[in-house]
Amino acid sequence: MARKRPEDLRSHRWYGVDDLRAFGHRSRTAQMGYQRSDYAGKPVIAIVNTWSDINPCHSHFKQRVEEVKRGVWEAGGFPVELPAMTLSEPFQKPTTMMYRNFLAMETEEALRSYPADGAVLMGGCDKTTPALLMGAISMNLPAVFMPAGPMLRGSWRGAALGSGSDVWKYWVELRAGAITAQDWEEIEQGIARSPGHCMTMGTASTMTSAAEALGMTLPGAASIPAADSRHAVMAVMTGKRIVDMVWDDLKPSDVISSDSIQNAVAAVLAIGGSTNSVVHLIALARRAGLELDLETFDQVARETPLIANIRPSGAYLMEDFFYAGGLPAVLKQLAVSGRLKVGARTVNGSTIGDNVEPAKIYNDDVIRPLNNPLVASDSLAILRGNLAPDGAIIKPPAAETRLHRHAGRAVVFEDYNDMAARIDDPDLDVDENSVLVLKHAGPIGAPGMPEWGQLPIPKKVLAKGVRDMVRVSDARMSGTSYGACVLHVAPESFVGGPLALVRDGDVIELDIPGRRLDLNVSDDELARRRAAWRKPAPRYARGYGRLFSEHVSQANEGCDFDFLERGAPTPDPEIH
Ligand code: FES
Repeated sequence: MARKRPEDLRSHRWYGVDDLRAFGHRSRTAQMGYQRSDYAGKPVIAIVNTWSDINPCHSHFKQRVEEVKRGVWEAGGFPVELPAMTLSEPFQKPTTMMYRNFLAMETEEALRSYPADGAVLMGGCDKTTPALLMGAISMNLPAVFMPAGPMLRGSWRGAALGSGSDVWKYWVELRAGAITAQDWEEIEQGIARSPGHCMTMGTASTMTSAAEALGMTLPGAASIPAADSRHAVMAVMTGKRIVDMVWDDLKPSDVISSDSIQNAVAAVLAIGGSTNSVVHLIALARRAGLELDLETFDQVARETPLIANIRPSGAYLMEDFFYAGGLPAVLKQLAVSGRLKVGARTVNGSTIGDNVEPAKIYNDDVIRPLNNPLVASDSLAILRGNLAPDGAIIKPPAAETRLHRHAGRAVVFEDYNDMAARIDDPDLDVDENSVLVLKHAGPIGAPGMPEWGQLPIPKKVLAKGVRDMVRVSDARMSGTSYGACVLHVAPESFVGGPLALVRDGDVIELDIPGRRLDLNVSDDELARRRAAWRKPAPRYARGYGRLFSEHVSQANEGCDFDFLERGAPTPDPEIH
């Protein structure tokens, strides 16, 4: 479309007209120290900033937002910072997932109700990325995502430490008595030593990479470490770019297409991304009115080699990934092998194919060439069966190979507290062949589908030197976790999914190559159990918890609210 004129700007209805309300908008802007010439006829850029004192992953955003503003000013825009719910993964209970849709709504409604012509979305800590994108897609104003960037490598006695992955690893060693309390305390001090999000290929790195593959960031933005000066430069460039996007009216609906969604799925699988991305990408696609189902992930996983050698699937960390060429080098590999839809548009105005054309691999152990992948295919698998009629997920490379086909007796925990109370009980009837089952950990039952899916290995099994067991739940798992964990079982147990009917001693059969998850109990017996099953009382009588419980969808549908998923965009309010 032709470039906008100043009177075409959305903010013109607040600032540019000559009525009583506009007088109020201008006089109150003057109250903040601005002259008319600072904003008149300029795009107003809302900078949605998820900084807070309790979000270590965004602790540099106070500085970065100034850099975004500098870019906006330099390009002739008027920057307006809008703080938004921070979703701090390490602190928020029961889980940030409970509030992803909250931030998505906040983003959409803030952009709608204020004089925003375009938006810079500042996020990175796990759920902030999908939440900001979901809100921006629904509002459909020109928008760029500015990723927080990963923190620097952790360090302990000369060894590199990775967020999450090494916490789980050394926690097991501490429980097994293989490291001391002093060692554990030193790890605590060395594992998170700079601003930025988790620097393993956890949900944060996965989702910021997915945002880049979707075309919603500047090229290369997702891999730059937060502490690197190039991250500050990227922030300035993002601020500059959004002003031009407003004049060009380049909106999320011009960028996000079935091709760009397909690119995000392929990218996630090539980098060994978090299982959480499945839920988030389905939600994002649905916000854009596009179809994305679990089978697409399974199909793309069969065809896509895992080439990023990053923990938890591989050996390195995001800092190494950046030096090795970062996401553009991975996307280039996908492009040359025909796995990337190269014509998909991106926020910089070029196609993703053009953007990644100059990319190179600078360390082919960190980013493997396609003929030497870390895992040739199946970095993710979708399971179905009588225990998961609407699907479940497993990350095969994260599980010991001996467990890829496994049948074992269920040891059932009714909820998280039950599990925490009994998992290390010496009298628990469990051995290394058992299948640990956790109920009531799904979207409604937990609530919020927390990352409880990597159930701890019972101490008495650990003592035998065993480090992996089959675990089944309707929970999610941190992207930094590993193990033979079957996740996202749908429908969840709280709403009467078959998981609710499992009892101690039932045999559960996992067959990853056959994509099956079955409960070896007769249909008659299951029907008897179902007749005896009673729906648990609602968790919430009021407030956001009630809204969440009444409207959240199941994992295979993206866990969005039913009233936000699709439909025509909400029109702008009449401005008075
Ligand atoms: Fe923020 Fe991991 S805690 S990304």
